[in-house]
Amino acid sequence: MIGHLHNLTGADRKTSFIMNSAVILLLTSSCFACSSAIYASNREGPKKLKYLLEPLVHADVVARRGRNATLPCILRTRPSHYKVKWTKLDPEHAGQENIIMISNAHAFKRYGRLGPRASLPKAHTMDASLLLRDLELEDGGVYRCELINGIEDENVVVTLRIEGVVFPYQSESGRYRFTFHEATEICAQQDGALASYSQLYRAWTEGLDWCNAGWLRDGTVHYPIVNPRPACGGELLPGIRSYGPKDKNQDRFDAFCFTSQTSGSVSYISGSFSFEQAGDACRRQGGELALVGHLYSAWRFQSYDQCDGGWLRDGSVRFPISSPREHCGGIPEAGVRSFGFPDKTMHLYGAYCYR
Ligand SMILES: *[C@@H]1O[C@H](CO)[C@@H](O)[C@H](O)[C@H]1NC(C)=O
Repeated sequence: MIGHLHNLTGADRKTSFIMNSAVILLLTSSCFACSSAIYASNREGPKKLKYLLEPLVHADVVARRGRNATLPCILRTRPSHYKVKWTKLDPEHAGQENIIMISNAHAFKRYGRLGPRASLPKAHTMDASLLLRDLELEDGGVYRCELINGIEDENVVVTLRIEGVVFPYQSESGRYRFTFHEATEICAQQDGALASYSQLYRAWTEGLDWCNAGWLRDGTVHYPIVNPRPACGGELLPGIRSYGPKDKNQDRFDAFCFTSQTSGSVSYISGSFSFEQAGDACRRQGGELALVGHLYSAWRFQSYDQCDGGWLRDGSVRFPISSPREHCGGIPEAGVRSFGFPDKTMHLYGAYCYR
């Protein structure tokens, strides 16, 4: 549909424009429908819970990587015998449930990837909340607390959102070079993970505008447009443009990576270094060249602002701007600017180090 727009007459354009807003609405509502189809315990509408406290609507738990989060699940009444089962739902695999913990009044057992970092704080006798320690990038998502008493099982769902930043990543050899698996790998190498659709959506609401399509964690390909322009999918409404699911082994795109707070810090060493000299300069200070994810994290969480291009470990040269000004990239929005991947022997840039 995006591609066809260029051939339309003026009148058709108008229709198409309206149609597209309908498509956007449909996209949103179909996504909502699919998530409620997967997660709601009862499709006829929310049923009144007897044992568990109804969760507040829109009460997501939000935390950064490395921190702890408590996912609330509170009993209103206690049946005589019951178990509590905590699971993480996996929308990428048709809502498949990954069990984290099963407990009864006397004992508990942990399961899976999250189990070792999970515990039950039991702040009071009716508390069945789950504490997750040392959060990781992939921990964001939908969790279910299920009360099992063999008669009327009940559950509530809680959404955990890892607070972070989405950054597009393009190969040194140009646009659209990564298969899905390479995109997954490249994000990990930059201290990130492939972003989910909701992370990209949030980044778009915060102003991310990127005219190249990239992989998301669910194997779909999208790009976010804030300022519509002919070269970027035509003059449609602002929104997330979708290519839908693509072949993970054959198709090649850029990547949208997601990262969050880091335990280290980023600093700039001014100088006219080659790539190699920049690495040496960082090592002399007990650090290493920063990864792209480190720089985005510092920009997002420490409002890092440095109007000088510096080498990063992947061989790119970038700089973070939190207070946009004329001579620092020229674009009105804050962001991490890129000089791409210059010749590594050029003695032109400083170094961004991570420690
Ligand atoms: C996270 O929880 C653990 C164990 O409950 C605690 O020792 C640690 O201090 C907590 N960390 C933070 C950042 O609150």
